[in-house]
Amino acid sequence: MAGVAESLVTEDFRKLYGSAEGVRVFRAPGRVNLIGEHTDYNLGFVLPVALDLATYIATAPSGVPSGPGKVRIYSEHRQEMREWNTAELATLQPARHWTDYPIGVAQELLSAGFAIEPTNLLIRSTVPEGSGLSSSAALEVSTALAFLAGRSIDPLSLARLCQRAERNFVGMPCGIMDQYISVFGREHSAVEIDCRSLGHRLVALPSGIAFVAVNTMVKHALAGSAYKERVAECAAAVAGIKEKFPSVESLRDVSPERFESVAHSLPPVVARRARHVVTEDARVGRFVEASAAGDLALMGKLLVESHRSLQHDYEVSCAELDFLVDTALTIDGVFGSRMTGGGFGGCIVTMLRPDAAARFSEQIARIYERQFQVAPRIYACQPSAGAMQVLDFGTIPAA
Ligand code: GLA
Repeated sequence: MAGVAESLVTEDFRKLYGSAEGVRVFRAPGRVNLIGEHTDYNLGFVLPVALDLATYIATAPSGVPSGPGKVRIYSEHRQEMREWNTAELATLQPARHWTDYPIGVAQELLSAGFAIEPTNLLIRSTVPEGSGLSSSAALEVSTALAFLAGRSIDPLSLARLCQRAERNFVGMPCGIMDQYISVFGREHSAVEIDCRSLGHRLVALPSGIAFVAVNTMVKHALAGSAYKERVAECAAAVAGIKEKFPSVESLRDVSPERFESVAHSLPPVVARRARHVVTEDARVGRFVEASAAGDLALMGKLLVESHRSLQHDYEVSCAELDFLVDTALTIDGVFGSRMTGGGFGGCIVTMLRPDAAARFSEQIARIYERQFQVAPRIYACQPSAGAMQVLDFGTIPAA
């Protein structure tokens, strides 16, 4: 973690809660999705990498001296402490507050038969919020591990439990991608997830490329409601296609060719949404093949096709994302670029020659700031390991 200031999270934990006896630290990373956007809830394919940006939670049983019977959670980022009696956790209602994530996780753990012990938590995160790099999943997975405090759970159950927390309590009908990659991420690899079978394979990326994410620094208010609308539009497309092809259960079952044979029978907006999903699924497979063949130009071209499809057919991009992608494509050493994550703000991800990264970052920041009067943040996307307990818990990068 060279270059990142390190601080003693256990020391901070002791200051906050009066004791660091029995403290453990858990980590869950954010992610950048390389390709396969809005395909996960259509049971298709995605290709994310886990980042070295992560949420860390220091936790210890809250016996004496902090007092029994309570769960306390402190968010360093919000500088906010909240507490609940363990007995009330099961019946809490969503508060439209950041604590909905940990409370949603607590409720899912309880439903799965895991008791929640009186505990103190200190949350420290280096995943920027609202950036489309999945700070929510990082918070869910790290909270689940903190509440489990070493009790074992199989990794897929962990990912699914955290997805349920977001769907049931937070109220976002998300797919499985973010929680899955936060659990299953691997150093040096992208992870191709089959969102129907929930299996995955590791994809070694060719040498001679790097991925850089650039943050628009905006998150438009539309993001949540538009996401739900897209989920509903995809369901409408499946219902329409089913009339002709009864075996179709999700857009995953529809090839681009078959889709074109029924597209005319769907309402135009629904047809465009579905066209994005079926072509995007196909692009994931083609991207993985191009990667295996070391065809960097084709990989870049597929990234741009993905963006155009999200921009025009799925309509989840925005002026800032389009501007960044269009600018990225004019910069030397860039193979391709696209928005990443849910859309309506957040980040683009750009594939480029490693030696071009420094100039790229400098140029795109300057051009974006001139246009939007805000400096974008830029992150090197280093494929990193999924959630795990941090054994050397003395050193956690400062946010
Ligand atoms: C959000 C959701 C994911 C996925 C992406 C879009 O990040 O949480 O499940 O649907 O949007 O690909």
